[in-house]
Amino acid sequence: MEINKKKYNLVVLPGDGVGPEVMDSGLKITHEIGRLFGLTFNLETRLVGGCSYDKHGVAITSETIEASKKSDAVLLGAVGGPKWDSLPHNEKPETALLRLREDLALFSNLRPATVFPKLLKESPLKDEIIKEVDLIIVRELTGGIYFGIPKGYNEEKGWNTLIYKREEIERIAHIAFQLAEKRQGVLTSVHKANVLDSSHFWKLIVHEIHSSSYSHIKLSDMYIDNAAMQLVSNPSQFDVILTQNMFGDILSDIAATISGSLGMLPSASLGKEYALYEPVHGSAPDIAGKDIANPIGMIASIAMMFNYSFNQPKAGELIQRSIEDVLSRGYRTIDISRQNENTSTTTKITNEIIESMNQLYEIDNKKMELN
Ligand code: IPM
Ligand code: MN
Repeated sequence: MEINKKKYNLVVLPGDGVGPEVMDSGLKITHEIGRLFGLTFNLETRLVGGCSYDKHGVAITSETIEASKKSDAVLLGAVGGPKWDSLPHNEKPETALLRLREDLALFSNLRPATVFPKLLKESPLKDEIIKEVDLIIVRELTGGIYFGIPKGYNEEKGWNTLIYKREEIERIAHIAFQLAEKRQGVLTSVHKANVLDSSHFWKLIVHEIHSSSYSHIKLSDMYIDNAAMQLVSNPSQFDVILTQNMFGDILSDIAATISGSLGMLPSASLGKEYALYEPVHGSAPDIAGKDIANPIGMIASIAMMFNYSFNQPKAGELIQRSIEDVLSRGYRTIDISRQNENTSTTTKITNEIIESMNQLYEIDNKKMELN
């Protein structure tokens, strides 16, 4: 799916709450990369979530789905808020995410959690526990209990179905093993095979794929309850964590404690044809419109876009290094500032990252000239 060209079509879905603010930051970074690397971006901005419901009566329109299918990448801010909490279950803003994932067949969700050395003290976990952490959660995103049928509720009961087909497990397992090959070569398959049939099946298939194609990768199994505990007690043991939809949802929020805040975590949702990038944090309605949201989750998602969709690793790396640089110079949004002292606005952090990108870019070019 990687494309290498100079002009990209982006569908931009800012959404609700802090979504539009962090999207502004993400787009500023995108354009700055464009300026530095000679790339241009065609943007098509559309409504998603609660704001789409207010205007069109649905959380996402079919036109927006179709536009997304024509894009080189979709950027999403966040959806939801108290205003729409009382809507019928199947009309809630969150259904837009599920529809995008399903219709674009975005079956693999990558959620990296890394430690920024300067943020060691901001994590609720002890620094000696997290200092070596560099892990990525590979979450299956279009199957499992989120999508299984039958599902529903009535006066008497509510029900969902946890089902995984062989090919759904196989394709996500390949993604995770291939990622492990590029990283430390260690994969943990997280499930509940001691209780659930679907998990026992999951475990068997992952081992099948391992012995047929990836026996050079160190594979181990871990039950979800233990994995939740290990993520906070000994997270540096992990490299790639492969897991089903709902377990990945839970583990990725836990993993956020490692980076200091949910506001730091980026994500990529990838399929065979399409790609979507969004921060893991939600719409955070309580802080929306105040210019205090952490834009780093969104900006790091932009870095993932350059890496995974556009085959521009230099751009991705420049963004990542600039984020680190700004953190090391002491800039913090409120969520990553323990003492709530000297906090910076969303706009300020974004501008500092842009400043850093320019400085680092110039330094790199000087070095190249000298060589
Ligand atoms: C996430 C979110 C979504 C999910 C919700 C909002 C549908 O929590 O992306 O982690 O559960 O997948
Ligand atoms: Mn979640």
